[in-house]
Amino acid sequence: MNHFGYKGGVLSAEDVGLPALAARVGTPFYCYSRATLERHYKVFAGALPKESLVAFSVKANGNLAVLKTLALLGAGADVVSGGELAKALAAGIPAERIVFSGVGKTKEEMHQALTAGIYQFNVESEPELLALDEVARELNKRAPITLRINPDVDARTHAKITTGTAETKFGIPFARAREAYARAASLHNVEIVGIDVHIGSQLTELAPFEAAFEKVAALAKTLRADGHSITRLDLGGGLGVPYENNNMPPPDPAAYGKMVARATDQLGCRLIFEPGRLIAANAGVLVAKVLYVKEGEAKNFLILDAGMNDLIRPAMYDAHHEIVPVKEPVPGAERVVYDVVGPVCETSDLFAAGRALPELKSGDLVAILSTGAYGATMASSYNARPPAPEVLVSAAEWAIVRPRLRHDDLIGQDRLPDWLG
Ligand code: LLP
Repeated sequence: MNHFGYKGGVLSAEDVGLPALAARVGTPFYCYSRATLERHYKVFAGALPKESLVAFSVKANGNLAVLKTLALLGAGADVVSGGELAKALAAGIPAERIVFSGVGKTKEEMHQALTAGIYQFNVESEPELLALDEVARELNKRAPITLRINPDVDARTHAKITTGTAETKFGIPFARAREAYARAASLHNVEIVGIDVHIGSQLTELAPFEAAFEKVAALAKTLRADGHSITRLDLGGGLGVPYENNNMPPPDPAAYGKMVARATDQLGCRLIFEPGRLIAANAGVLVAKVLYVKEGEAKNFLILDAGMNDLIRPAMYDAHHEIVPVKEPVPGAERVVYDVVGPVCETSDLFAAGRALPELKSGDLVAILSTGAYGATMASSYNARPPAPEVLVSAAEWAIVRPRLRHDDLIGQDRLPDWLG
């Protein structure tokens, strides 16, 4: 459920009409709903065993105001870089609710995270383990660690967001787990606290999760028998969201919570979750203006002022996003089939191919839905286009939570060497 809908004939975020926002902010812009973020967080957290840590995956949406919204509800953070760690801390997420994932942590990032006192490092390889031990020794600390185990389970999601099969770069192979834990136990400056697993994103079935979690639960028992202290299980993120109106809804958090309890019941571990998309995707829309309607030889093109630099998911994963007119269409309005494209000079700058929409004209506003996760965080300034700014709405209030960069801001990022020219 989300808080975007037609009110008084226009698409609104909570109590704020998007045309009024467009008039003030300009287009394109991302608009997030605080009530939706809060609702998603509460529904998910409420479905999990008590004492669980819900560490929002900052890569999905790293806006400080979004992070603060979740921090106020008690959320932690799953970070994958020093930059994300700094953002999570700046948003008021306490270090003891932050976990650090990722295959390529640098020693500087380890130093930063150890100094901050984060909850745990999810270590993805043996060389990384040795590096962390070294940094912790220099700081005279012990780094709390889990090892991310690759359970070799197919998440049955898009290949580009599958992480839990043996072919991917992620985690330590299941078959090497005991050896890797023995190695970790021999190091003085790391402290084994648990096991971590994450098999992919936008999962639409529970079965792959269940297969992975059962493997992890069995491993926990083996590792305990080997003498390791396994008190935490980090079960990653990955729960999918409905992107299309008429397709099968993904498993709901309640069913996921029950399955998790079933799989991990007897272990008495603290559970950690790293949801990103589930919390943020349907809490955001990208509002764009129709620049031109171009009648091609074979097709009609709707050319928007948002491009693949603002939202890359369709180009990168063939992702489907619903697109709706901001002005409420009259019931039964005739539909026209468009290719909805952006202005970027790439054929893949295509938001939707052959999409039937009520007839639109130059100057009309549209909203690209379900773009609160992996939208703004993956944006770039390709074609020297300042990425879309971000707005957060809360009931009748709104604020620009990331302003639009000016051309001078973009130019100011470059430097001219004094020997040039
Ligand atoms: N934990 C780890 C270790 C991850 O790698 C990810 C996502 C998450 C948690 C959060 O997963 P979520 O709950 O959001 O599915 N850019 C792609 C998604 C990439 C996901 C990468 N890892 C997209 O736009 O679909």
